[in-house]
Amino acid sequence: MSSNQTERKFEGWAAMDENAVKGGMKWTEYEPKEFAEDDVELEIQYCGICGSDLHTMSNGWGTTKGMYPQVVGHEIVGKVVRVGKDVKHLKEGDVAGVGAQCDSCLECVNCKNGEENYCSKGLTGTYGGKFSRTSAGSKSYGGYANYWRGPAHFTVLIPEGVDPAEAAPMMCGGTTVFTPLKQYGAGTTAKDVGIVGIGGLGHFAVLFAAAMGANVTAISHSHKKDEDAKKLGAKQVIVTGDDTKAAFKGHERSLDLIIVSSNAPDMPFDAYLSLLRPHGHLVIVGVAEEGSLPNVHPFNLIMSNVHISGSAIGSVKGMEECLKFAGDNNIKAWVKRYPMKEANEAVKSMNEGEARYRYVLVNEEHGGKLNA
Ligand SMILES: NC(=O)c1ccc[n+]([C@@H]2O[C@H](COP(=O)([O-])OP(=O)(O)OC[C@H]3O[C@@H](n4cnc5c(N)ncnc54)[C@H](OP(=O)(O)O)[C@@H]3O)[C@@H](O)[C@H]2O)c1
Ligand SMILES: [Zn+2]
Ligand SMILES: [Zn+2]
Repeated sequence: MSSNQTERKFEGWAAMDENAVKGGMKWTEYEPKEFAEDDVELEIQYCGICGSDLHTMSNGWGTTKGMYPQVVGHEIVGKVVRVGKDVKHLKEGDVAGVGAQCDSCLECVNCKNGEENYCSKGLTGTYGGKFSRTSAGSKSYGGYANYWRGPAHFTVLIPEGVDPAEAAPMMCGGTTVFTPLKQYGAGTTAKDVGIVGIGGLGHFAVLFAAAMGANVTAISHSHKKDEDAKKLGAKQVIVTGDDTKAAFKGHERSLDLIIVSSNAPDMPFDAYLSLLRPHGHLVIVGVAEEGSLPNVHPFNLIMSNVHISGSAIGSVKGMEECLKFAGDNNIKAWVKRYPMKEANEAVKSMNEGEARYRYVLVNEEHGGKLNA
């Protein structure tokens, strides 16, 4: 062990190959980055299971080949147990969270503008990345684990008034939809908002958009979530089923903003665009495993003056704003808690589409609570 390492033994659920997503992760010890004076160390209490964790473990995006073992998880909340000399905003004993990004250059124009998620030099993912600013070349490891170590800049204090177990999935899933909802004026300039895909991200999007004052339409591929979507705050639910065109009949040009959080491989973008009013925005956050978008006919953009864009996670400020918004508006995330030791069961169930709507892994020995 090098001198700047602690006695803590870093262990987590490692994906050794593509079968991990079916419940084949192995509990493994690993070497974290070298501790730097702008780092913190967390005793992990909670870690949400994000759809991206599954795509990574399964190599569904083709980005994981040669990158196993992977300890995924980027919706982390835990107790601060070690603080570098240069860290100003956290102290030992605080409860803090980290999302999908754990480092960037901190110097480029985007980093300086508080958009570290669009760093010109690229971001370091909380797992599956490589550090370059400090401990250059070390691999980043995520939160299905006992400890997390990394740059404090990317950690935020969990405010009083937000249950830390519910704050965990807000670190990625919540912030990822909160950011474009805010950017495109949900509830203000965008009164009518559609959310495609009612999964972890989608359920946050419905909760947040409704709390922002928008009329929310949930767009789901089956009837299974009709009732839940209404309870989350949707005014109406459109079920696309096998015939999206038929499902959208009568709803053309009725929405100002659509957030697509589904990761279905065959999404009918032309049909989604038909729902937008002129000047409307369709923002993609879900990433299908096949990766590319279907052809969109130019007339469907030209004749309606609609916009297609994407949005990546959120900035540090975005995470803080999301947590504050959740606290101020008493947003209750629908989470199911699993003991960390049952991570394989949770991942398998999520992979089978059973989550309603976010699973959160709990380390009870670090103060995480299995019951709300
Ligand atoms: N842009 C970013 O920065 C960012 C950040 C986090 C996650 N993501 C991505 O966002 C996507 C959603 O993540 P999540 O955590 O919300 O996942 P999730 O909980 O599994 O939700 C995905 C939803 O997609 C819909 N879906 C429709 N057809 C599907 C199909 N054939 N297979 C699977 N799902 C289908 C389902 O909703 P219905 O049943 O309502 O149709 C499902 O609940 C993932 O691709 C993830 O990687 C992106
Ligand atoms: Zn995520
Ligand atoms: Zn940068």
